[in-house]
Amino acid sequence: MKRRDFLITTLLTSGLIITDPWKSQAASIPEFSDSPFTLGVASGDTQSDRVIIWTRLAPKPLEGGGMPNIRVPVGWKMAKDPKMTEIVGQGTVMATPELGHSVHVDVTQLEANQVYWYQFQVGNYESAIARTKTLPNPNASVDQIKFAFASCQDWQNGYYVAHKHLAEEDLDFVVFLGDYIYERSGNKNTVRQHQGDDCMTLEEYRNRYAEYKSDPNLQAAHHRFPWIMTWDDHEVDNNYANLIPEDKQNLEDFRLRRKEAYQAYYEHTPIRISFQAAEEMAIYRSFELGNLGKLIVLDTRQYRSDQPCGDGGKPRCQEATSKTATLLGSQQEQWLQSQLSKSSASWNIIAQQIMMAQYDLDPRPQTGLFNMDQWDGYVESRRRLLKFVHDNQISNPVVITGDIHSSWVNDLKLDFDDPRSPTVATEFVGTSISSLFPQQYVAAVNLARIANPHVKFFEGSKHGYVRCTLTPDYFQSDYRLVSSVLDPKASIDTLQSFLVKNGQPGAQNIT
Ligand SMILES: [Fe+2]
Repeated sequence: MKRRDFLITTLLTSGLIITDPWKSQAASIPEFSDSPFTLGVASGDTQSDRVIIWTRLAPKPLEGGGMPNIRVPVGWKMAKDPKMTEIVGQGTVMATPELGHSVHVDVTQLEANQVYWYQFQVGNYESAIARTKTLPNPNASVDQIKFAFASCQDWQNGYYVAHKHLAEEDLDFVVFLGDYIYERSGNKNTVRQHQGDDCMTLEEYRNRYAEYKSDPNLQAAHHRFPWIMTWDDHEVDNNYANLIPEDKQNLEDFRLRRKEAYQAYYEHTPIRISFQAAEEMAIYRSFELGNLGKLIVLDTRQYRSDQPCGDGGKPRCQEATSKTATLLGSQQEQWLQSQLSKSSASWNIIAQQIMMAQYDLDPRPQTGLFNMDQWDGYVESRRRLLKFVHDNQISNPVVITGDIHSSWVNDLKLDFDDPRSPTVATEFVGTSISSLFPQQYVAAVNLARIANPHVKFFEGSKHGYVRCTLTPDYFQSDYRLVSSVLDPKASIDTLQSFLVKNGQPGAQNIT
């Protein structure tokens, strides 16, 4: 189908009315001096019968997008082949200035476990043709699911060579666990520089997302697989907790900053939520992976109480073990328990941000030094969750984690201070795509391994992602690590592989 025919067809089939009486802005297609598809396209929140497809019109990506203050109709289509001949759905959606001319289309009535291809079009411009895939039917008997999880892509610290390799994997989907952007201002001593100051306003966050999304390797990974995404702290402000900023901002200023950062996140993420410009944005949600797995995606930033004991690495003060402290907030915690209780899947995968296993950084007995930003600062929240998993015999719980820019494999214990205590779940912590793990910490972590026998693996100098294979018999994690983030042509290798067998929590090294 030619471009012009495509537009006419979409206008006819969607019954589009170009002028809309209840909106003051006119709707029309502007003259673009450059392609408006500079940020690529993406798909996400795949289900057995639907998937979100996304793009944002931004001919001048680093200057607020460069779009006129009008609503613009954007055509989309989805097909069963990469040449876009076997069309299964098409339509027109309005890109509005209120949402930075981003569009989210929930394409429905799709077949389960099926590869599709999609494309957007506006004026004389067509986007890249990208690939996506639906999940199997929730009750289907599934032999295998393959996905990768990744996190933490500090633009300044390195190139996205891990994304280049990620795009070449054979996967059903990608899970991204947060720190998609970093909010801070530029650093002259790094391989790439952020433009602009610390992000504070909607426009500044939009420009930062646009800078990151201009990377061809990141676009390639989005163009190949649907992504299931959650956020961590840097999408707003380092180590913020609910409405408490790390930076010196008053409550009202931070309330507005967080709201605008959340909006920018929505505008750049193929996520299925009904967006309202509001101070809160609920993004925790779950996905059924046939009868094989359930993927539960958490938000450990928006509802947590403040980091205890003054944050950072500290001995535990009373706040860290307080029963009133919360990491998930009571509503999300109850939701998580009900998701686990009613799950009939073999594998229950909890995708979340911060390390869940205890890690005592002080190797001496009777003393302790813990990272107060992790679950170690919210001891009761962790105890409640692991006790719930144990008491209710939740089937094969596996936690996948980001945030810490280093690779770990941990047995999650009912009582971390007693090595004989039951292992109730397994945690795989993925390193960063590019963000730094300060090398002076590597020796400190290694020295403390003796005080943390439930930690099975730690590697603190490499970057990449974790590839996971799920079958009825096992959950395998391959730590896929690149040789350097400073070399755009760096190679990738599987450094270690671990297996969790069905019915036996805890990881075995099978490298
Ligand atoms: Fe990070």
